[in-house]
This record gives sequence, C-alpha cells and structure tokens, in this order.
Amino acid sequence: MAKVVYGSELSAELKQQMKQKIEGYVARGMRRPCLAVILAGDDPASHSYVKGKEKACQAVGIESRMHYLPATVGQKELECLIDALSQDDGVDGILVQLPLPKGLDEDSAILRISPDKDVDGLHPVNVGKFFLGEEGFVPCTPLGIMELLKRMECDVEGKRAVVVGRSKLVGTPVARLLQNANATVTVCHSRTRDLASVCREADILVAAIGKPRFITKEFVKPGAFVIDVGVNRKDDGHLCGDVLFEDVEPIAAAITPVPKGVGPMTICMLLANTLQGYERKML
Ligand code: GUN
Repeated sequence: MAKVVYGSELSAELKQQMKQKIEGYVARGMRRPCLAVILAGDDPASHSYVKGKEKACQAVGIESRMHYLPATVGQKELECLIDALSQDDGVDGILVQLPLPKGLDEDSAILRISPDKDVDGLHPVNVGKFFLGEEGFVPCTPLGIMELLKRMECDVEGKRAVVVGRSKLVGTPVARLLQNANATVTVCHSRTRDLASVCREADILVAAIGKPRFITKEFVKPGAFVIDVGVNRKDDGHLCGDVLFEDVEPIAAAITPVPKGVGPMTICMLLANTLQGYERKML
C-alpha cells in the first residue's frame, strides 16, 4: 500500500508559512507582494484556473491584479499591457494565462514579460538561466513535483527517474530538476519504444502525458515513487490523472492523487515564485 501524498495538504502548510512571512514584511511597513494576471478570451477552464490563482493570492496576502481581455484583443494591445506591468515597480510577478486565443502569438507575448517578473519561468532568459544553473524563475509545476518528492521522503540522489512527457512547462524542466538533484533521468515521449519496460526501471516515475489512466501497474516497479501530473476531464466532468490510481497504488511506495495532488502545488509554487521576485527586489 502506497503512502498517498496530498498536494492539497502540503500546499496548505507552505501557504501558511508564506502568509506568516508576508505579514511580517507588512508589519515592518513594506508593501504586499503583487501578482498581475492576464487572461484573454472566455475559455471556461482558463477562467477557473485563474480564479484559483486569485483566491490563493488572497489566502496568503499577495495582492492580485486581474486583467481580463476580450478574445478579440489585438497583439499590440496585449503587449502594451505586458510592457506597462513589466515597468510597474508595484508588480512583482506577471502571469499570462495560456493558451492565448487563436490569432495571438504566445511566444511574442512572453518575450515582453520582464524576465525578473516571469513567475511562470517561460521567458527564454529564464529557460536559459535554468539550464545554465543560474538564478532565475523555474516553472511552477516542476517545483511543486520536487516538493512532493520531499514530502514522500524520497531521497532523489542516485535514483533512476523516468519522466513521461517532454513539454516545455512540465516534462523538460522537471527532468532537469531531477538531474540537478543527482537522479539519473530518462525522458520518454510518444515515440519511445516499449514504454512500459522503460518505466518499470524507474524508482521515480513522473507521468505527464495527458492520456487518462494510461499508466497501469505494468508500467511501475514495486516500491516506486509515482507522481501523476495528468489533468484529464472524464465524460462525467470529474478529473482523472494519467495514472490508473487503484491499479498502481497497491504496489507503489508513494503516489499523488488526482485531483488534490500536483494541481494545488502548481498554484502554491506560483505564490512562492511571486514572493521570491518580491524578496529579490525588496530585501
Ligand atoms: N495554462 C495552463 N497551465 C498554465 C501555467 O502554468 N501557466 C500559464 N501561464 N498558463 C497555463
């Protein structure tokens, strides 16, 4: 039976610590940290994610400035807003919710975010710093995964880690973080041959493929630490992960559920990155 590690619980603890720190700064007469969020269009999932981010900011005492733009917003107008926020000394973090509506250029928009406010870690300057081992911003979901492994009491050093998925936001950066923590890392993807046998070598298995309940016990070495990054919506509207939980849980050492696993940690690390941006500037 695996230890089931809830990101919802861990994030509540970490948020409590951040709240105390922020109230300490405010008591010393400093302003609150501030996150600016830009959401263009009316995609319901994006609106729901952004609402969650706003609520989380409130809970820890980070000011949130929400900018809702119509789906018809022009590239120029969007980038003018990003420029203004980049130059605003009262803003510590800027998040442009992705995907942007059709017709808008995401890469061009991200380039306009000041790298020292890029709390998503998406700007090429931050991607470059991360891969060079320099201080910058690291994407939130990978940071959350590393916190979950700590909570699992998983000593990453020397372990064999397999990451399934190579996205910019999750697979590629989490592989790098695991490598930095001295794991031996394999990154798998849709063209990997005999995926199950590669996954079975993993002491740490990170599933970030976007295929509902794809990872069954045939993919898992007994005693492995399993992190499920999948967020898939079932026909009944409920969420499920990339891992078939009831199949894998009996043989894993520890596993994260979906929902209440990685998702809450992503938001928590967004707050942590915003606080980090604030501290770099203000302390
Ligand atoms: N859309 C889905 N996940 C994310 C994220 O982590 N950051 C941004 N900006 N957009 C997203």
